[in-house]
Amino acid sequence: MNARSLTEGKCVIEVRNVTKTYGSGATAFQALKGVDFPVNAGEFVMLSGPSGSGKTTLLSILGCVLTATSGHVQLMGEDISKAKESDLPRLRRSYVGFVFQAHNLIASLTARENVGLLLEMRGYSTRGARDEAGKLLDQVGLGDKLASKPGDLSGGQRQRVAVARALAGSPPIILADEPTAALDAQNGLKITETLRSLAKEHGHTVVIVTHDNRIFHLADRMVHIEDGLIQERL
Ligand SMILES: Nc1ncnc2c1ncn2[C@@H]1O[C@H](COP(=O)(O)OP(=O)(O)O)[C@@H](O)[C@H]1O
Ligand SMILES: [Mg+2]
Repeated sequence: MNARSLTEGKCVIEVRNVTKTYGSGATAFQALKGVDFPVNAGEFVMLSGPSGSGKTTLLSILGCVLTATSGHVQLMGEDISKAKESDLPRLRRSYVGFVFQAHNLIASLTARENVGLLLEMRGYSTRGARDEAGKLLDQVGLGDKLASKPGDLSGGQRQRVAVARALAGSPPIILADEPTAALDAQNGLKITETLRSLAKEHGHTVVIVTHDNRIFHLADRMVHIEDGLIQERL
């Protein structure tokens, strides 16, 4: 399955006037104050901003991990603004692959099993997941590390497994929260280049939260957020 065939010509992410308030009463804190964030099919967008500006909050709403307090959020044409907590896992499975700052791989599983597990969650048979995981790991340059466990891989290699896992099952949207923060400059750049080329090849729409100015030149578009609001100009 190719993400492009699902998304051609569409606004894949539509966020309008979104607010998010954590807590309530005297301790309430408004982390997003009316954010507009449209992303077109196939775009490779980077979201930057100071610590505490709301980047992870916005990404978590796009990733169906959190719900917005108010405003409109649509993914692939489906309105998720009114989604209940119990709908979120299905929405996540349908639309989103994640790359985290810390790779979040399962230590006791091989690279192939880590990727295969996601594929099985997305409906692949055990055999199909095994084959597809091998292909994905090959695409990120780890064709010779299928049987390695995370502890036997370098930081850069682990993050490559995490990229393969995010691509597993070809979700239309890939979200990454500071994916290069734990890597040296060269590995950070190479992994972002790999993610970009695979996303362009397969038609994924990508949003990366990053402060890493060494990778900014790979973005189709930079969006800056400050104090819970998107800044019109960087
Ligand atoms: N679960 C939470 N409860 C209360 N406040 C939170 C929670 N998560 C984040 N915040 C606050 O919301 C603001 C934005 O956080 P976050 O989205 O994580 O920012 P960033 O990723 O840009 O550093 C910060 O001030 C943070 O302290
Ligand atoms: Mg953050």
